[in-house]
Amino acid sequence: ATVIYHLPDGSSQSVEVPVGQSVMDGSVRNNLPGIVAECGGSCSCATCHVLLSSTANALFDPPTDEEAELVEFLEGATPESRLSCQLIVGGDADEIHVEVLDSDV
Ligand code: FES
Repeated sequence: ATVIYHLPDGSSQSVEVPVGQSVMDGSVRNNLPGIVAECGGSCSCATCHVLLSSTANALFDPPTDEEAELVEFLEGATPESRLSCQLIVGGDADEIHVEVLDSDV
């Protein structure tokens, strides 16, 4: 699928992310800003926080309890908040829009 990362500076970047990889992987592989992914995708750092519209959210599995708990304590979290390392690209989506936040959020 093509993931379109809307970056904190207002620009956007599209990346081909293969099925089975996460939205975090696609960003880190291309050195895009905003997704730090300190824990390397083990759902413990929350530095891979992104926002997803409800349409985009429907393309992914719902958050696990672990993810939901981390997001709950995240500063600046909104109902659209997800951890991008837990967003595994499936076969259904052609195009996924993701809003990337400033890494210090
Ligand atoms: Fe650490 Fe996602 S990379 S929680």
